[in-house]
Amino acid sequence: MATVKGELIKNVAEEKAIHHNKISIVGSGSVGVACAISILLKGLSDELVLVDDDEGKLKGETMDLQHGSPFMKMPKIVSSKDYLVTANSNLVIITAGARQKKGETRLDLVQRNVSIFKLIIPSITQYSPHCKLLIVTNPVDILTYVAWKLSAFPKNRVIGSGCNLDSARFRYFIGQRLGIHSESCHGLVLGEHGDSSVPVWSGVNIAGVPLKDLNPDIGTDKDPEQWENVHKKVVSSGYEMLKMKGYTSWGVSLSVADLTESILKNLRRVHPVSTLSKVRHSSF
Ligand SMILES: *[C@@H]1O[C@H](CO)[C@@H](O)[C@H](O)[C@H]1NC(C)=O
Repeated sequence: MATVKGELIKNVAEEKAIHHNKISIVGSGSVGVACAISILLKGLSDELVLVDDDEGKLKGETMDLQHGSPFMKMPKIVSSKDYLVTANSNLVIITAGARQKKGETRLDLVQRNVSIFKLIIPSITQYSPHCKLLIVTNPVDILTYVAWKLSAFPKNRVIGSGCNLDSARFRYFIGQRLGIHSESCHGLVLGEHGDSSVPVWSGVNIAGVPLKDLNPDIGTDKDPEQWENVHKKVVSSGYEMLKMKGYTSWGVSLSVADLTESILKNLRRVHPVSTLSKVRHSSF
């Protein structure tokens, strides 16, 4: 029987299988879904996959996202509890984990998330042996290492979101203080994501003007302007939002979409991420 679809495409050459550019996100919680929308709106690939254990939540979020299709450049959004759906992904973003409770530090209860990774990572590598892994779950630096070990991937294919968000918050707060767009405020927060991160004041600059040239004591105890409060806010704001809204999602997801773009387009940009670095002792 003739169908509308059959009639519509009857004069069109038969479709050949093409290589898809595929991104999978594991975890359909607030962070996973926010990453999905941030990536969808940037149109970074042609297929987005969501995986989660909670099938109801997963299906609901997927349908909701799919209904925005007419307004997006990424037409294919699929999901499943079964990791088979992630097969041949170019990039797999891991956001899944056991939610942090109020007052719990990021380094607490690492084991809960490590156990979850022991299930997730082998399922991913089985179906996408050539993918790149982007770890977002906290404690991100530790779990990136865990994911690297569990995956047995080369180290350059396992990256953690690291201090990419901390640096974004740092630049935002500097921008607020100076009345300058945060994009024009350059500076990095390095080290472990979270409480013990380190602001690199010597490198902070606006259009190439180091703030340290204008205030030699910037970021130190002697600083009359107390710029170190900017970094204190970077550290405390995560906890503050946790108290107020129970989680954070928008800042982290936009920073993840930015990393995703650098990875998939091989932009050769510089990001503060979790990676296995060689320490050259002679430089200390
Ligand atoms: C484990 O992962 C979840 C989801 O990403 C996160 O909310 C939680 O804070 C993590 N636990 C720890 C101890 O960091």
